Amino acid sequence: MSIDKNAPIGVFDSGLGGLTAVRELRRLLPHEDIVYFGDTGRVPYGTRGVETIIKYGRQDVAFLLSKNVKYIMAACGTVSSTLPKSCTDALPVTYTGVVQSAAAAAVSATGTGKIGVIGTPATVNSESYNKAIKALLPSAVITANKCPLFVPLVENGYFDEENKVTHLVAEDYLAPIKAAGVDTLILGCTHYPLIKPIIADIMGSGVALIDPGYETAKSAKEYLAVADLLKSSGNGEASYYVSDSTESFEQLSNWFLGEYAGGNVTQISVDNYEV
Ligand code: DGL
Repeated sequence: MSIDKNAPIGVFDSGLGGLTAVRELRRLLPHEDIVYFGDTGRVPYGTRGVETIIKYGRQDVAFLLSKNVKYIMAACGTVSSTLPKSCTDALPVTYTGVVQSAAAAAVSATGTGKIGVIGTPATVNSESYNKAIKALLPSAVITANKCPLFVPLVENGYFDEENKVTHLVAEDYLAPIKAAGVDTLILGCTHYPLIKPIIADIMGSGVALIDPGYETAKSAKEYLAVADLLKSSGNGEASYYVSDSTESFEQLSNWFLGEYAGGNVTQISVDNYEV
């Protein structure tokens, strides 16, 4: 079956963090329509068991497929680290997670080979970033740490640069990474770019911070161009779907999306979707 190049790109996350990837997609691909699903009713995923994350990830993908998307981006470090290849390879459209592009960017950025990774417990336990980095740079020395409080802090709006609570939590989580003397740090969860100024302040200017949403949006553009799936005209429109009330989405989406806050938001349930 041929894929319609005018079909939308599908993007999903457990919550609002994936909007940091949407922001980059809209900047890089202004003609593209985007369907975004944020599972705000079930966020966070990253502190759950593997089976639950796989079930949720499959339902998220199935929902996007029901919207006839031409390409799916799991803008979620947790799902990207957990959904098995056997599941994603069987999909009728190309699926990408955020791990591969972020690992490649980290390998390009590092001078010393000392790379830090922060992510949700599920992401860090999976060692997905470690494996992807090692495949590209076997001599890399990786220091990873789980940051379970970052997602709820961000989802509740605690991402202001001056926020003392988030700063204190970040100092604690980043201490072992700083002690390891990394020159590059992967923000291995799409929520974390929202607190990038705080992380940058703690890590110092000598450490390159890698944003997986940004890196994956760049890779998506390259992939769609090579596959001849780019929509070449018109103003791209975005439709947003969330599984909890649309109220908090409207309040927070401005922050996640940067300047762009257009589009419609609809509440839906994906419980009955299955691929
Ligand atoms: N943005 C998701 C990620 O990248 C959030 C994880 C969560 O829901 O815990 O991992």
